[in-house]
Parts: sequence; structure tokens; C-alpha cells
Amino acid sequence: MPEIVLADSFVESKCVLKSRDHRPISVADMYRVIAERLKADFSPTIRLLELLPVFLHGSRHAEVRRAMAINLSAARGQQEHAAQQVVDRLPELLAPGRSVELVEEFVRPLWDALASANGTRFAIDPGLSKKAARLFDDKSRLRERLEINEGLRRFIESEPDTADQRLIALGQNVLGATPLIGTMARSLHAMFSANLGKSLKDVCFPKRFPSSAVPATDRVPVDGSMNNAVLAHDVTRCVLNSPKFSSGENDEMLYGLGEHACLGRPIANAAWAMVTDKLASLDCTIRSSALTLVTDAPQTAEDLLAMNVLFIKPSSLRVEIGP
Ligand code: HEM
Repeated sequence: MPEIVLADSFVESKCVLKSRDHRPISVADMYRVIAERLKADFSPTIRLLELLPVFLHGSRHAEVRRAMAINLSAARGQQEHAAQQVVDRLPELLAPGRSVELVEEFVRPLWDALASANGTRFAIDPGLSKKAARLFDDKSRLRERLEINEGLRRFIESEPDTADQRLIALGQNVLGATPLIGTMARSLHAMFSANLGKSLKDVCFPKRFPSSAVPATDRVPVDGSMNNAVLAHDVTRCVLNSPKFSSGENDEMLYGLGEHACLGRPIANAAWAMVTDKLASLDCTIRSSALTLVTDAPQTAEDLLAMNVLFIKPSSLRVEIGP
């Protein structure tokens, strides 16, 4: 396992994120090493990873980022329309007297609507997007990785001519899912638990997500190969969200900074605005709000250093609605 250094002050983290001397870890290179060691063919996985801007650097990053940005901006209208339809169900879901599990009944359907309106003419299997995210979890077992790899191979071979375009659309959905679902669930919980018993009409909802599901991101020096970075103890974990930052600093860092700043920011902000506009029109109260997470949110430097996936995943958000 690499030794990781934490950049946990706002200034230091921002400096590394904006530095031209640092790049993200190449997960494709990690799969190249596994493929070589096991004599296994991970080429479908590597092809997907080489189309995810978050792990790329230099001209390849610029090229892929541009292609994804074009897709996402073409998708914007369609995605907003699809999201609004899910948001319009909120008054019924939050009817007084009900007890609702908002991750399953609202937040995931909202993400599914955004993901299926992804601006391409290709339907992307949501099951494959969910599984593909397991490729970046270093706790995933080899057998699972091999199964996902075979799923990707079938996906590529089903229509080889459009494979890269479909992989880019798949990649958008892989990269957007956990940050959006986690940030939305944590932000709703933050607002509800701070305003229990108050009519939603009287709650002052912030313009930005008040909480994040992406606490940190990793960088390595540009000139170090993957192996060097691992061996030479030079992975820097840049903190993006921290109780030690001011709310302005957390806001500034929510979507990352520099060359890898989030491409989903406009649609994520639009979704938060739609949700909070609808909530602010409801004359009901939240009696209780309980959020459970798949893994606990990091509280200390040790927790941050121990994270194997840099996302906080919610499992449920149970709310009880009062009059
Ligand atoms: C509130 C929800 C979201 C949050 C908090 C969030 C956060 C982030 C952060 C912090 C990064 C930078 C990672 C790094 O520097 O290593 C990032 C990158 C990225 N995000 Fe998001 N994200 C969200 C939603 C989305 C959505 C909905 C999509 C797609 C539809 C998306 C697509 C991307 C992409 C493609 C990148 C990589 C950009 C690049 O490397 O050039 N994100 N996101």
C-alpha cells in the first residue's frame, strides 16, 4: 500500500490541486500492472479508464474532458426536464404523516433520471454503470473485477464502431452517481436536521449544497510513474471538505479546482436549486431525519488516510413528516 501524505489545510490542498507538477493517479496503469502480473486481459477496463478524465493527465485528459463536456452541455436541457419530473413528486412523497426513505424513493430516482437523459443517443445500462464504479475500490476482489471486465468487453463488442462514445457516456454516469447521490442525501439531511419542526416554507435553503460526499482527492507528481509514486511515498491526499475550512472554503472546494474541476457542476447545482425551490413551497414539517452511511464520514486525519474510496456513500435517509 502507498504511504499517503495529507494536504489538509485549505491553502496547501488548493496549491497541490492547481499545481502543474501534480496529476491524478492513473488507475489504468494500476490495471496494466495487475494484467501483467496475472497474465489477464484487462483491456476493456483499461479502455474505459482511459476515457475517464478524472484519472487522466496532459493532452489525453484535455481531449477526453472536451468530449465529455460537449456531451454534458448537450444533455443539460434534457437532464433538467427529467430531473424536474422527479422533483415534482416531492409534495406527494412528503405528505404529512408519512415516513419516507428518501435515498431509495427520491435521491436515486433523481440520479437515474439524470443518468438516462445523458445527452447521447445510446441507452446505457444503469447496472453496468453501478458495477463499473467498483473498479476503483481497492477492496474489490479480483473475481469481481474480472466479471466487470467481461461485462465491459460485451458492452464494447456489442457495437464496436460506437464503443468509445458509449464508454464516454457510461463514464459520465459512473463519475456522477456517487458524488451526486451522496452530496444530495447529506445536504438534505443537514438542512432537515437543522430545521426540525419548522415549516419547510420558512426554511432558508442555501444556494449551494451545504454538505459534500467527496471529502478528498489524490495527486502524484507528474514525473513519477505509478510504481514510483507508490514506492516513493509521494501520494498527496488533498482535502476538499473539512470542518476546519470556512463555509466559503468548503464551497470553493466542493467541485474540485484546477484542470480537473467537476464537469457535472452545472447540472448538480441546477438539481439542488430545483429540489430546494420545491421544498420551500411545502407547508409541512420534518419531525425527524436519520441518515445512515455505508461507511462513516471521515472525522480525523487518520480516517481520511484510511479511506479506500474517496466518497461518502449514504445507505438511507429516513424522514418522518409532520403537519
Ligand atoms: C454534487 C455533486 C458532485 C460533486 C460534489 C462532485 C465533485 C467532484 C470533484 C471534487 C471533482 C474533482 C476530482 C479531482 O480533482 O480529482 C469532480 C470531477 C468530475 N466530476 Fe463531479 N461532482 C458532482 C457531480 C457530478 C456529476 C453529476 C457528473 C456527471 C454528470 C460529474 C462529473 C465529473 C467529471 C467528468 C469529473 C472529472 C473532470 C476532470 O477530471 O477533468 N460530477 N467532481
